[in-house]
Amino acid sequence: MPNPKENSSCHKVYITTPIYYVNDVAHIGHAYTTVIADALAIYSRMVGHDTFFLTGTDEHGQKIQEAAKSRGKNTQEYADKISGKFKGLWDDFGISYDKFIRTTDQEHKEGVQYAFAKMFDKGDIYKDVYKGHYCISCETFFPKIQLVDDEFCPECGKSTSIVEEESYFFRLSDYQDKLLQWYKDNPDCILPRSKRNEVIRFVESGLEDLSVTRTSFNWGVHLPEHMNDPKHVMYVWLDALMNYLTALGYGTDEAKIEQWPARVHLIGKDILRFHAIYWPAFLMSLEMPLPKHIAAHGWWTRNGEKMSKSKGNVVDPKEVADAYGLENFRYFMLREVPFGGDGDFSQRALIDRINSDLGNDLGNLLNRLIGMSSKYFAGVVESDMLKKYYKVELENMQNSISKLEPLLFEMQIHKYLEELWRPLSIANKAIDQYQPWTLMKEGREDEAMALNALVANILANVAIMLHPIMPKTTDSIATALGFRVSQESYRNIIQDNKLLNKFTVEKIPPLFPRIEEVVLVEKIEAEIKKKLEPQENKTDEGIAIIGIDQFFQTALKIGTIIQAEEVPKSKKLLLLQVDLGDGDVRQVLSGIKEWYSAEELIDTQVCLVANLKPAKLMGIKSEGMVLAAKDEDGLVLVRPEKAKKPGTTVS
Ligand code: MSP
Repeated sequence: MPNPKENSSCHKVYITTPIYYVNDVAHIGHAYTTVIADALAIYSRMVGHDTFFLTGTDEHGQKIQEAAKSRGKNTQEYADKISGKFKGLWDDFGISYDKFIRTTDQEHKEGVQYAFAKMFDKGDIYKDVYKGHYCISCETFFPKIQLVDDEFCPECGKSTSIVEEESYFFRLSDYQDKLLQWYKDNPDCILPRSKRNEVIRFVESGLEDLSVTRTSFNWGVHLPEHMNDPKHVMYVWLDALMNYLTALGYGTDEAKIEQWPARVHLIGKDILRFHAIYWPAFLMSLEMPLPKHIAAHGWWTRNGEKMSKSKGNVVDPKEVADAYGLENFRYFMLREVPFGGDGDFSQRALIDRINSDLGNDLGNLLNRLIGMSSKYFAGVVESDMLKKYYKVELENMQNSISKLEPLLFEMQIHKYLEELWRPLSIANKAIDQYQPWTLMKEGREDEAMALNALVANILANVAIMLHPIMPKTTDSIATALGFRVSQESYRNIIQDNKLLNKFTVEKIPPLFPRIEEVVLVEKIEAEIKKKLEPQENKTDEGIAIIGIDQFFQTALKIGTIIQAEEVPKSKKLLLLQVDLGDGDVRQVLSGIKEWYSAEELIDTQVCLVANLKPAKLMGIKSEGMVLAAKDEDGLVLVRPEKAKKPGTTVS
């Protein structure tokens, strides 16, 4: 990005968000990435760059197929519905995306097939057999050493399954040195820079070839028809990453592709490996230029915990925006947390930012200007005398403003906003120090008018530079000051340091009415309380104390094992058929093979959790859980002391 003082010529700026999985609805984490990207896009357009802002949804893969199935829905219809919700939310939020891509779009699928064929023809993709531990939830294979307890995913903690299948592989190992060279030559390719070091260490430890097709499910992009291998669908990350190119017409409409390379791919830190290793390697293989920045932000947590639907602590961005104002929320997210770091969502912090930064520093300054100019000058503001009396203040302000742009595209957004508040403090201090009421009393009208003009010009500069973060609010400020935020006013006021023409201040209602605690969103408050309560009600071991009603929500029953067998390829699992009486026979997978043989279990009784949601392990359905006790001496099943009728309730 050029320095605006030197050059305003038009550049192509392509900005992307990750494409969001459609197995869940949007939360604050998604809103955060999208709002940052939106701010960059608005800024870039205001500067006059040819800007293209892409967002969308990631709709293929086993995870989505299973999410649809568990809800009894057709996969495409399910994807349509959730994708529509994301789009609807961004439209509600006024997000200025230029294209909303869906990986189920026909052009996208064709583009991915085109890329696959290109990499295959080049010799970068070959066919072999893959065997490994696969986490469906993360759609990723993990080497055994990375698994927790030899079984669980190191990222999400869910059970992995062993997948052995014929697969096409991408020669990622061939790109190790080229990738390292790229990181070395481009210190800002991964932001923040500390994250780049992590990536370098990972790549230096050695890259294995990457399995890029699957045969175990079919909800994905198929291989190009001429490859005649219909049972393969593409690995969801190859499919998903390609969206950044296919959205521009890659593989279907080459004429549009000139918007490439991306100026910045905005992502969360959990998907950095895919973007900083796989993606540039794919691009190198396709002989395409590499993105300028891959910028990874941190995580939003709630009371220090990761947000998840099952914990019930997910912050719904729409609820927060409705309660506190969308633009206040945008400001808060971008100001509160240094880019790259994690941030805890707190309503208290949000209210403080609104009342203090926005209300006191910005809103009050505008009110002071409206008050002073209408009281002393019938609302008129003239900048003629400004440089004569307040040159130093003016230059200090302009100096602060000129530092801003690089901060934005280096993803130092919180610093950008911090720096942007300096001019506001210059203006507020000048009023306190020079006191327009005293100046008027002493007959120094020119100085009072110049002071008004200083405040108005500072507000104009701040409004323009704050526009990307708070577009509507700053439009209102500009209206009060008699101008519009546009490429033209950006050029005049920010680039050329022009002062405002004579204007009459328009009185507008206060922009940031003070927020008292009573307007807190009740639902969110109730959730916080709910989260806090069990913490007060915990045993010394930190286990939640529950009421009898909660206990009775678990259906515990006596069951007789009528059949037991080993699960092929599993060291831990036995497959049991447990009779609960009245023809209710449950198929249950249990990790007890180390302690029990299949034969010795037949005709014995167990205690079964009978109302667990069915789950799949290694592709086999399990409809309950057998209770067992385990200590350092091993594991024993919990059984009734004497035989009981199958189906007897345990209470
Ligand atoms: N579909 C992939 C991305 C493919 S891009 C080619 C994906 N989707 S996601 O919906 O699971 O996540 C999208 C983004 O949301 C990621 O950047 C992720 O880091 C971000 N967030 C998800 N939860 C988050 C928080 N709690 N806080 C901040 N961002 C988080 O990954």
